[in-house]
Amino acid sequence: MIRINENFTKLKASYLFSDIAKRVSAYTQANPDKPVIRLGIGDVTEPLPQVCLDALHAGTDELSKRATFKGYGPEQGYAFLREAIAQHDYAARGAKIEADEIFVSDGSKCDCGNIQEIFSTDVRLAIPDPVYPVYVDTNVMAGRTGTNIDGRYQGITYLDSTPANGYVPAIPGVATDLIYLCFPNNPTGAVATKAQLTAWVAYAKANKAIILFDSAYEAYIRNPEIPHSIYEIEGARDVAIEFRSFSKTAGFTGTRCAYTVVPKSLMAYDAAGNAHAVHALWNRRHTTKFNGVSYPVQKAAAAIYTDEGKKQVHAMTDFYLANAALIRTAVNKLGFSCIGGDNAPYIWVNAGRDSWEFFDLLLNKAQVVCTPGAGFGKCGEGHIRISAFNSRENVEKALDRIAAALK
Ligand code: MLT
Repeated sequence: MIRINENFTKLKASYLFSDIAKRVSAYTQANPDKPVIRLGIGDVTEPLPQVCLDALHAGTDELSKRATFKGYGPEQGYAFLREAIAQHDYAARGAKIEADEIFVSDGSKCDCGNIQEIFSTDVRLAIPDPVYPVYVDTNVMAGRTGTNIDGRYQGITYLDSTPANGYVPAIPGVATDLIYLCFPNNPTGAVATKAQLTAWVAYAKANKAIILFDSAYEAYIRNPEIPHSIYEIEGARDVAIEFRSFSKTAGFTGTRCAYTVVPKSLMAYDAAGNAHAVHALWNRRHTTKFNGVSYPVQKAAAAIYTDEGKKQVHAMTDFYLANAALIRTAVNKLGFSCIGGDNAPYIWVNAGRDSWEFFDLLLNKAQVVCTPGAGFGKCGEGHIRISAFNSRENVEKALDRIAAALK
């Protein structure tokens, strides 16, 4: 009799954003005359930057001629893209990352979900709350947790992000091995200062631990004091893996391109205490299970590093940040406190009431979709996340509708 991986039975029946999509679809089917505005899942709405479109077309044309046709590319990504990333995302910010420490992939969701495979099933986890659900759910699937009791899995050290700590969690008082951090944060939009990240790097070093640093939203940072990469912190090469994505930077949620940085100096240990290069392990995993991102898509991604590409990407992220500013102002005017939206595309609203109830109220009375904070963890209860990813017209309409619904 074939048996299942029973760890899956510890999970909630469906993934947060699938659950929300189901509820919204049920609402729209029952109310076809009431169009909804989606400020829930962080999915981009603006067309790809022109430089990316041009590169995508040119890359596709190359596939039409035998002389320039491409079959399988390098699993880790083409050198032209890895070199551009190393130069513009790292060297330009004073961080030393070599092109061959960069693994191009089809998404940060997959990478930050898959990375745990290369670590022992008994590593001690530190995971923020609220949090992007992929970090928790993939560890549950792998069997690193016990059951969920009262909204929390046994076996995880939760790092609470609350109004009291400005939504930047404190370093835990216990030793842990694998630490998930995300800044600018999803869902709160909070950012971490250089001093805060320096403390995390010191903690990881002291514990021979590894930080998994998700900086998918770094392109939204406008405060010049805030680091864009964990590698801007001295010593981070020896303790951190970083995830970056073109999704929110350049509108690639449908096009699919991201990358993960695994420095060659990063070590993890076997049961006998021997050090192993994490880079070699991830390379082994990546080349076994992945065959690379398509050539035209990598061409399109590389285009954002040209002078014109940088301008276009900045204009696009500025556009979403202007939406975020409108949302913050409107939310404050309604009497709610909120954070985020200034260095991130998410606004985290302290709703002061049950988050699913508030979600239902906004859906039913305003036809606006947000994300209930409880879906991101226990500390998310009482909050909702509003995404700035939509057209200006829809954001303005949604804010008018929310104001009317809450009158
Ligand atoms: C979100 O809404 O949190 C993100 O869009 C999810 C993702 O990037 O997978």
